[in-house]
Amino acid sequence: MARFPVSEFKELPTPFYFYDLSLLDRTLAEIKRTARDPRFKVHYAIKANANPGILRRIQAAGLGVDAVSGGEISAALEAGFDGDKIVYAGVGKSDREITLGLEAGIQCFNVESLPELEVIDELAGQLGKVATVALRVNPNIDAHTHAYITTGLAENKFGINLEQLPAIVEKATSLENIRLEGLHFHIGSQITDNEPFVLLCETINGLLSEYAGKGYRFRTINVGGGLGIDYADPDRHPIPDFETYFNTFRNHLKLSEGQEVHFELGRSVVAQCGSLITRVLYVKEGVTKRFAIVDAGMTELIRPALYSAHHKIENLSSPNGERHHYDVVGPICESSDCFGKDELLPAIRRGDFLALRSAGAYGEIMASQYNCRPLPLSYFSEK
Ligand code: LLP
Repeated sequence: MARFPVSEFKELPTPFYFYDLSLLDRTLAEIKRTARDPRFKVHYAIKANANPGILRRIQAAGLGVDAVSGGEISAALEAGFDGDKIVYAGVGKSDREITLGLEAGIQCFNVESLPELEVIDELAGQLGKVATVALRVNPNIDAHTHAYITTGLAENKFGINLEQLPAIVEKATSLENIRLEGLHFHIGSQITDNEPFVLLCETINGLLSEYAGKGYRFRTINVGGGLGIDYADPDRHPIPDFETYFNTFRNHLKLSEGQEVHFELGRSVVAQCGSLITRVLYVKEGVTKRFAIVDAGMTELIRPALYSAHHKIENLSSPNGERHHYDVVGPICESSDCFGKDELLPAIRRGDFLALRSAGAYGEIMASQYNCRPLPLSYFSEK
């Protein structure tokens, strides 16, 4: 069980995010240990969490950044990441965002369409620069994950379809202000089964040999992110199985001399180190149900409402009480503002602190001000 300094929480205005920086550091150390291969480069997918306190640790650990907007590029630069450690993906890059990337000298634009490639060429030309690009390929692999977070299937808006790829590769090599350096893939998120990653490697091997036959060689292969975490039992698996994950690519990808593999991990880096801490406002006895009404809602953590995700709920104030069933709900005027139905939890009283676990990824960063609520604050523990 993670240690929460509950007595200190009494002084803080709830709800808030609480980050265990020592777990973050151990996670980063494990990434470094298991990705130890001079050909492997890990970029942190900053979309998962851009809290400056978290970013500084990730920057200090030597990871790069995977950004999907100009705002994310700026957040990474402010946190101290060098421009040449930032890769930039996204289907709708605006001219202003592309220019920001070019001026920051980012490592690579992950390009998702032909018109985008042409605009980058034009803007780079105006600035007298050459943009390094990778083409994002839609590999048509089912990642067996939630429909809203699967990205590698043919019908997605993301990436370039395999049939259209040859023409775009040819175009990219002909443009004056473009240096085509790699291929980029991302098949989805919260992938807990290794098989989709093996399939991805096989697809990539096929493509690399096909293009080698045509005289094209890609220096970088970006395999995206997607490694899942244990939401059901975060204390059993506080650190994801990076060893198996990196070994899959080490064992299955057929790389040639000088080729690099880039990874874009988000959730697996930061999810387990963060919890949303909320205070119980009321325990309401219904006819057939008992509701624990808490002061956090979908405004602070939208994943349950948006993806039917479940975050483990813990009663920090009285962990050993007799257990009862509760629907744990927030104060927002939406029925989907519910963190758990029929949760079996130690008896809950007004004023108790509850933790919504595994909320370090896609939690704070997806917070909104719906119902004119303030954005949540964050606190850190190193112990
Ligand atoms: N690379 C690309 C191109 C991506 O689109 C994503 C995530 C990642 C890397 C990082 O994936 P990760 O390692 O975190 O799985 N808000 C959703 C997740 C959306 C993921 C979007 N793309 C959630 O809360 O589950």
